[in-house]
Amino acid sequence: MRKLRIALAGVLAVGVIYTVGPSTATAAPAQAPLAVAQAKGGNSAAHAHGPGRTSTDLPLRVLARKHGLGVGTAIDMAALESDAVYRERAAREFSAVTAENVMKWAELEPTRGQYNWGPADELVEFARRNGQKVHGHTLLWHSQAPAWLTDGVADGSIDSAELRTIVRNHITTVVKHFRGKVRAWDVVNEAFTDGDAPVLRDTIFRQHLGPNYIADALRWAHAADPRAKLYLNDYAIDNINPKSTAYYELAKQLRKQRVPLHGMGFQGHLDLQYPLPIDAPQNLARFDKLGLETAFTEVDVRFFLPVDTYKEAGQVGSFNTLLQACLLTPRCVMFTVWGFTDKYSWVPGFFDGQGSATPLDENFQPKAAYRGLQQVLAVASGSNGRRGF
Ligand code: XIL
Repeated sequence: MRKLRIALAGVLAVGVIYTVGPSTATAAPAQAPLAVAQAKGGNSAAHAHGPGRTSTDLPLRVLARKHGLGVGTAIDMAALESDAVYRERAAREFSAVTAENVMKWAELEPTRGQYNWGPADELVEFARRNGQKVHGHTLLWHSQAPAWLTDGVADGSIDSAELRTIVRNHITTVVKHFRGKVRAWDVVNEAFTDGDAPVLRDTIFRQHLGPNYIADALRWAHAADPRAKLYLNDYAIDNINPKSTAYYELAKQLRKQRVPLHGMGFQGHLDLQYPLPIDAPQNLARFDKLGLETAFTEVDVRFFLPVDTYKEAGQVGSFNTLLQACLLTPRCVMFTVWGFTDKYSWVPGFFDGQGSATPLDENFQPKAAYRGLQQVLAVASGSNGRRGF
């Protein structure tokens, strides 16, 4: 009897999921979830949906809809262009996309004065076709800045006054180019140092534009697209620690000064050798209370290979901890993974010996981490007042 009730609840839940919520036009709608080919029955609720089908076995974007939550992924443009399976999965699973690289300054303006919009425009068009929001990443970052800029500053051929003009023009040009097409921008990425006493990172922007460069960048971006949500974004700030507290203090100060800061992005690059950020809900709550949107912007969970059952379990818990923190935070609008398949993850190339950091394996098959995300989205109730994405 109990089993039957669960099965019926599943049917009803699916009905609700499909009919309620923001009308996101999906070119690749949700009928054929990733997991379907893999599931082999044996689940009591499956009977209501045919073999192997349960109410949780739906694409993440469908399961997230009742929460008003966007579920995103970083997109590798080379993969999007060459791999049809990647394209299809990206469209089916996600309601938001972030350019993994093609909106970074070095990619957009490799030669001074010559913008290469092609790949970024292609991503924006892909998102439009699939009813996905675009999260802009990133306007100012010490990394992946063009060589002409960093070399020019280093050899003195670009002085402080000129750098200010260049930065202002860059922000204005890029934000205007994507006006109305990019929902939110990571205006400054990774502005603080790590450790016990974080300070503003000693970048060319901090050095030559002064400590108010973040406020300036936010104002310039706001002038270029008053409707875009403007974020700061960083890693290792998912829990309460000195670095996230430094951001909290900065955000409080900027809000008090009426600087247009609208959101805080928590990258969420987790590593199983470090403590689980179990107090992420408390951390997000304090930003929420400042009136800011919050979002997990680059989630992945890496570990040293090979995988074993302990690591697999740890990975499920880590993904779920961040997703739950988001669902517990009224203005947490987006949960984005930094790549959805191990086939194209940045992790093995950047962290020696580590990998398996995304929810799908290199053959696009769901890992336990993917099932965990589905289940959290399916079981969590209500929208928690989230106004939608
Ligand atoms: C990474 C990309 O995934 C790589 O392809 C690239 O070579 C380097 O940058 N924090 C960020 C992202 O904000 O932009 C980084 O992306 C990962 C860490």
